[in-house]
Amino acid sequence: MLHLHDPAAVAAWVAELAPAHVRTLDAYQPGKPLEELERELGISGAIKVASNENPLGPSPRAVAAIQGALRSIHLYPDAAAFALRRALATRLGVADNQVAIGAGSNDLLYQLVLAVVGPDHEVVSPALGFLSYRLASQVAGRRFVATAATPRGADLDALIAALSSRTRLVVIGSPNNPTGSVFTRRDAERLLAALPEHALLVVDEAYAEYAAAWPEVDHVDGAAFLRQALAAGDPRLVLLRTFSKIYGLAALRVGYAVAHAGVLDLLGRVVRTFHVGTLGQVGALAALDDDDHVQRSAALARRGVERLAAELGRAGVSVYPSLANFVLVDAGRPSAPLYDRLLHAGVIVRPMAAWGLPTCLRVSIAGDGDLDRVVSALVEIVGGGRG
Ligand SMILES: Cc1ncc(COP(=O)(O)O)c(C=O)c1O
Repeated sequence: MLHLHDPAAVAAWVAELAPAHVRTLDAYQPGKPLEELERELGISGAIKVASNENPLGPSPRAVAAIQGALRSIHLYPDAAAFALRRALATRLGVADNQVAIGAGSNDLLYQLVLAVVGPDHEVVSPALGFLSYRLASQVAGRRFVATAATPRGADLDALIAALSSRTRLVVIGSPNNPTGSVFTRRDAERLLAALPEHALLVVDEAYAEYAAAWPEVDHVDGAAFLRQALAAGDPRLVLLRTFSKIYGLAALRVGYAVAHAGVLDLLGRVVRTFHVGTLGQVGALAALDDDDHVQRSAALARRGVERLAAELGRAGVSVYPSLANFVLVDAGRPSAPLYDRLLHAGVIVRPMAAWGLPTCLRVSIAGDGDLDRVVSALVEIVGGGRG
């Protein structure tokens, strides 16, 4: 029987417990709850623009549907999410068995790694992408290869050059988080054409509905791209989308994958049963029908992105082009002290050092009233009062 009272001995014991790929993992660091931060800093009325949430909140239709479903939460959810999958399939112009539901799109990413990436395989993705791409690979002990990228977008030639017979997943974000950059339709097609036979191209479109607010900017429409690939007999494309962003249901954890039924059948083998609860399914189904809420949310994001770019630009701060509900801001000097000052001014943004961008901050678009405060704090603190 072990009796470890010495913290160092406990740490050593814990370290030996896990295999190397788990021991060396940096766990995801969630931000502190708003109330806790306010208490710590002695402030109130802080605005969190750090997680790309929808400032308009959920659709009232989703809230009503969830309230209606509360009385049946003693029953297990529909494990196949039949109604939600059917509604999504109809909207996207694909068959019911070409849609799978996940506990957030993050969950589907983990399922994909588990289902198709073996010990000798690799996941390839441009640098400056969503951190979960790397994490999902590392949790499974799989090799993650990051290729060249700048905040303006991925280097497509470098991405294609990194593909090999070891590649099983290529993951791209469009719009990409945290840069807001997109893949053009032509680039997405080039990438698919260059993909090894036994690999999947995963297009993470968590912000697709926002990008639709910029119809004049060339960007790949994942749903059309997928239909085109399927019609051509190419089963290697996977689309990931979520109800966490424009639909305002982040707390419910619902996302979906659209792909060839054969690929989704593999995901069905690794998924945990009953992974998406009834309230999530019901809320997502109702939110999907509220086009007005989606359109208002997208218009608000575009206005906010344009306003931030204009006002910060006047204050001498670079803002990268974004087709999403956030912008990447380059302060041109270390952003950690600026992050702290913004925090004390009650504006919580996301520092970008973990992405290797120590001079950058990511700012989500706030609602109209809050955005005034966000803009003036950024102009004052990041722009040094110019503007
Ligand atoms: C690019 C991207 N993909 C996926 C996700 C995960 O979303 P979900 O809440 O559906 O797991 C996020 C959330 O921040 C994201 O930014």
